[in-house]
Amino acid sequence: MDKISVKDARVESAIGSQGILEGWVRTRRDSKAGFSFIEINDGSCQGNIQIIAEATLENYESGIKHLTAGCSISAEGEIKESGGRGQKTEMLATRITIHGLADPDDYPLQKKRHSMEKLREWAHLRPRTNTFGAVARVRNCICNSIHQFYQEREFLYVNTPVITASDCEGAGEMFQVTTMKLDDIAKQQIEKLNYRFDFFDKPSYLTVSGQLEAETYACALGKVYTFGPTFRAENSNTSRHLAEFWMVEPEVAFADLNDNMDLAEAFLKRIFADALKKCGEDMEFFNERIDETKSLIERLKGITDSEFVRLPYTEAVEVLENSNQKFDFPVKWGIDLQSEHERFLTEQHFKKPVILFDYPKTIKPFYMYCNDDDKTVRAMDVLVPGVGEIIGGSQREHRLDVLESRMRDQELNVEEYWWYTDLRRYGTVPHAGFGLGLERVVQFVTSMANIRDVIPFPRTPGNAEF
Ligand code: 4AD
Ligand code: MG
Repeated sequence: MDKISVKDARVESAIGSQGILEGWVRTRRDSKAGFSFIEINDGSCQGNIQIIAEATLENYESGIKHLTAGCSISAEGEIKESGGRGQKTEMLATRITIHGLADPDDYPLQKKRHSMEKLREWAHLRPRTNTFGAVARVRNCICNSIHQFYQEREFLYVNTPVITASDCEGAGEMFQVTTMKLDDIAKQQIEKLNYRFDFFDKPSYLTVSGQLEAETYACALGKVYTFGPTFRAENSNTSRHLAEFWMVEPEVAFADLNDNMDLAEAFLKRIFADALKKCGEDMEFFNERIDETKSLIERLKGITDSEFVRLPYTEAVEVLENSNQKFDFPVKWGIDLQSEHERFLTEQHFKKPVILFDYPKTIKPFYMYCNDDDKTVRAMDVLVPGVGEIIGGSQREHRLDVLESRMRDQELNVEEYWWYTDLRRYGTVPHAGFGLGLERVVQFVTSMANIRDVIPFPRTPGNAEF
């Protein structure tokens, strides 16, 4: 007999077929008429399927009547039309095999609702809940859309290193990678380390971005993208920051900031449209059960059908200054916008995604193209309601002299970036790219309030459990 997923068994066309369902019990109810209803879920979809177990089954008294939430079973039988509400089908079982019990006295996921905080402590079990199953499926759909979007446009998928010696964003928030024995070093109270004894012969770190390496491939092959894990040792305990997160970084040669904005907008719209199209049941769940105003689906549809606002930083500052809004951080030209400012712009003022561009050069990394005003760089941030910054990118500085002087301004060692500056020495071209934080986009698509709940095992300050 063939295996059949709960998802496939729940559709009308399955009626009449024989098969084997496998999954984890959500509930068991015994009827007075001498049979039981067992609801199982196997992760293939949001909904469960009901299995009817009659008392004539050989293990009915010895096994089936002891099934509780979390037990794992296989059920063989025929898919029938269901008389029950909210379900088209059910299975009439001819055999039920019990694989593992889950003691109801200590299995954590009993029927009662648990807080997201509590579920984080059970990150190994939370994928068995409706919410985390749905997050996993939507996240998977988004990853698939990402690859499809770029593959259809003939971008090459390039894998950039996880370990690097360069600090792309220049913020110094990097995790050092070493094979030196830190405990021994501490005992010897060595004041100056000799990196000749370390694995890479020089200080090395987990990457904060694959951009610099992606640029080398774009400046040879035209259109590329990376998609991998990145690491930031920033000590921010917010609902939008992780120490380990996934980033998609497209990079395009012979492109400027306008091309970059067009790409970013089309990219986000594609992700939203695919989630709505392919994850209907899960999106309904997020709309009804997670989104505070139950307007998630409508919002996402609205965004895919309209244009993003594009606004220079300088004008955004004017909007904020004229807003009569009390901010914790006062606004003036030159400041790095805080999340309260970004959220005001996208949630209250424009009420849609906003692309801010041409930021002051003093608050942005060395690699961004300098405008003629010598005050701003061709940076862009895409802001969305509820989440704030979802994409950060720029046109890159492709003029060797300007780049080197920017590096010196930011006290970078120009020699160490010899390979990066070589791209400007030999056949330099205007080019541009950006980074999309995967978890931020999953947050936006699902309305999940905390970024720790859209990645299977969040890494945050003080927390590397699992
Ligand atoms: O704006 P960021 O720092 O840009 C870069 O790293 C560029 N090198 C990208 C490029 O041009 N190729 O980061 C890009 C995005 C942010 O907009 C945000 O969505 C996400 O990465 N991000 C984080 N997500 C979760 N936790 C963090 N600590 C994040 N820091 C950035
Ligand atoms: Mg940024």
